[in-house]
Amino acid sequence: MAKLRVGLIGAGNIAKTHLDRYMKNPNVELAAICDINEKTLNATADRYGIEKRFTSVTEMLANVQLDAADVCVWNVNHAVCTIEALNAGLDVMCEKPMAMNAEEAQAMLDASKKNGKLLMMGFVTRFDNQSRIAKDFIDKGLLGDIYYSKATYLRRNGNPGGWFADKSRSGGGPIIDIGVHPLDLTRYLMGNPKPVSVYAVTSDLLHKERAELKTSVGWHPDGADPKKDICTVESNAVGIIRYENGASTLLECSYALNGEGRGDRILYGTKGGISLNDMKIYSEMNGFMTNVSLVDVNTYYESKEAFQAEIDHFVDCCQNKTPCISPAEDGVVIMKILDALYKSAETGKSVDID
Ligand SMILES: NC(=O)c1ccc[n+]([C@@H]2O[C@H](COP(=O)([O-])OP(=O)(O)OC[C@H]3O[C@@H](n4cnc5c(N)ncnc54)[C@H](O)[C@@H]3O)[C@@H](O)[C@H]2O)c1
Repeated sequence: MAKLRVGLIGAGNIAKTHLDRYMKNPNVELAAICDINEKTLNATADRYGIEKRFTSVTEMLANVQLDAADVCVWNVNHAVCTIEALNAGLDVMCEKPMAMNAEEAQAMLDASKKNGKLLMMGFVTRFDNQSRIAKDFIDKGLLGDIYYSKATYLRRNGNPGGWFADKSRSGGGPIIDIGVHPLDLTRYLMGNPKPVSVYAVTSDLLHKERAELKTSVGWHPDGADPKKDICTVESNAVGIIRYENGASTLLECSYALNGEGRGDRILYGTKGGISLNDMKIYSEMNGFMTNVSLVDVNTYYESKEAFQAEIDHFVDCCQNKTPCISPAEDGVVIMKILDALYKSAETGKSVDID
């Protein structure tokens, strides 16, 4: 089979994470790369030996024959780059969050349908071994009906600065950037229920104090300086999502908090609950409450690191038309929830979702 000719759109932090995985997939040819920042473009292109490099996506699409594109740019440019690549006849994977808002996300989905091309969302946590095992238990009915979940992504000091802290380029802070991961994962494991309303509270405290600390987050995008950068995003958030089937999710996320950094992902079902952190199942046996720990989870499946599993799945979907487990339709619904969370925090009221 001919190799899949992939073009990277964006050459920053996550593009390198993806490129490392494409390099390990024998069915891929890294055919081209583009980034509006020439220094970043050349550094990444040199590192991966990619000759065809461009400072605009339009130029790349006009000059190189590609089969697929991988969108790894600032959130504000997800929609424009994705739609351009779809209209050029390519299958596309787009990093999370899908876009700045649900309207853009819907336009991306429409472009994928109009062109008959795949649009996969980069919801990488769906590809964790833990997630796949939890899904297996849930699909077999072993945990009963999942009626509640906890979606937590707390950073004690984790504002990356740069474009991430600039709402005009990111769309928001921890809700859209990191809360989106457990929010999508818990909804996926609950069977993708339809959201009907949300209530949320955010604050923007502690950003400045964190920037002054001697200890800081370990990474920043190119040119970021949290001490000097503008910061127009929330620093922490709590939200409740109510689904049509009566289930709900408690979302908690932060860039700055005087508490432990945590990433709890817990699903509560009528027959059992499961914590994805330590792969513990809470249930009942013989009239007693029992905790069961799964042992050595990596032996249950062919063990694959999540980003590798994600990239391999994208390549497989493009080449073999394998059904995508992270489709754009889910990205649009998650974007509607994110929009509603921000609106609720702003208005102080519960917000309905159509
Ligand atoms: N899945 C994950 O766990 C994960 C982790 C980190 C980032 N991300 C996502 O990946 C995306 C990129 O984040 P990052 O950390 O790599 O940021 P980054 O700043 O390191 O890289 C983004 C790059 O995009 C380039 N760019 C912006 N607009 C462009 C355009 N129109 N055309 C070409 N290049 C353009 C910038 O110059 C920059 O080099 C974001 O959407 C982010 O949410 C996902």
